[in-house]
Amino acid sequence: MLLAPAGRGALDDAVRILADGADPVAAASALRRSHSPELTAAALTQASLRRRAEAKFGADAAVMYFTPHGLEQATRPEVAAHRAARIGAAGISAAGVGPGVLDVCCGIGGDLLALARAGCAVDALDLDPLTMEIARANVAALGLSSLVTVRTADAAAAGPAGYDLLFADPARRGARGRTFDPMAYSPAWPVVLDLVARARAACLKTAPGIPYEFIPEGAEAEWVSYRGEVKEAAIWTGMGTGGRRATLLPSGATLTASGAEAETGPVSRYLYEPDGAAVRAHLVAEVAALVSGHLVDPRIAYITGDRLVPTPWAACYEVTDVMPFSLKRLRAALRERGVGTVTIKKRGSAVDVERLRKDLRLSGNESVVIVLTRIEDRPFALLCQPVTSQKG
Ligand SMILES: C[S@@+](CC[C@H](N)C(=O)[O-])C[C@H]1O[C@@H](n2cnc3c(N)ncnc32)[C@H](O)[C@@H]1O
Repeated sequence: MLLAPAGRGALDDAVRILADGADPVAAASALRRSHSPELTAAALTQASLRRRAEAKFGADAAVMYFTPHGLEQATRPEVAAHRAARIGAAGISAAGVGPGVLDVCCGIGGDLLALARAGCAVDALDLDPLTMEIARANVAALGLSSLVTVRTADAAAAGPAGYDLLFADPARRGARGRTFDPMAYSPAWPVVLDLVARARAACLKTAPGIPYEFIPEGAEAEWVSYRGEVKEAAIWTGMGTGGRRATLLPSGATLTASGAEAETGPVSRYLYEPDGAAVRAHLVAEVAALVSGHLVDPRIAYITGDRLVPTPWAACYEVTDVMPFSLKRLRAALRERGVGTVTIKKRGSAVDVERLRKDLRLSGNESVVIVLTRIEDRPFALLCQPVTSQKG
């Protein structure tokens, strides 16, 4: 409805009226003067989705189309661009031609737009006709129609032979909300694996918490974080290095398993909190080697060391106090130091952070970072000051 000329006019009007600061009721009555009730409702919904999408898609949001689920599930452009650049640079296509990619769950197009911008020729499909129409409109709006075809189809019936790479980003949201079980993805994991088995190369986007046993033998699993937050795991077959990888965006710093083994030892002057991508990829020993540190406990992803080594792979804190955890003792220590503001971090601790915050009854002008952890199976609290933060 919004793609017809009358719809585009209504959407332009809705965007302008909302940008002028009108509240939704005033905007609706202004739009109703020149547009039908259906067009008014659709235009207002789309205009507010565009506003919401700016945080993810930046300036492109102003010309794109969205559904609420499509926007939520779309890959962040920086992450999609990283993946597309890897595919573009992998040398998996004939010389001088960009790779041919089959995107079997294209959604509103977050990944396919980045793939086309990286020079890939993309055939895309989605089971949902409305979502597919929106992807097609986004391709046109961003001037990429010469590189992309989009159609409605079920991934299960797709033929990945003839493409350089299969890309799949299955829906992780079912009728009952978000799912963490790959068997409940749509399409389900066995369908995706069957496509992978028939593809020359493949990239599967999954949730960061994908159980290791779901990663196909010989594949590379890459955990990607953006500004310190782990966004996804991408599983690569037919390209990539195999094994585990962690990548930080926007910097693009990347780390692979080196076989390093981390020693365990006492808490030293500095505490390093590794990026979640390195933790998920089981690369904490590699991060420890980068900062010449050791682990506080063999099962906990905190690194400690005597040297301050700035690294994008970990936030660093200077440790001022180490004490066995007890509410009374912690409260007394904070009172003595005049601490009124705390940031509480925990790994390997069952303490309820919000309850603890209340129970501490803080007052004062100072601030500290409290790290709750377990050392040799005993709960400990570390008081720290931030030295460097880690922003990817
Ligand atoms: C996570 S979204 C994809 C997001 C997309 N990569 C992006 O960045 O915008 C998953 C999409 O898969 C589609 N889907 C679910 N089951 C499917 C199937 N069997 N065949 C094709 N598409 C399917 C859903 O309609 C949804 O749009």
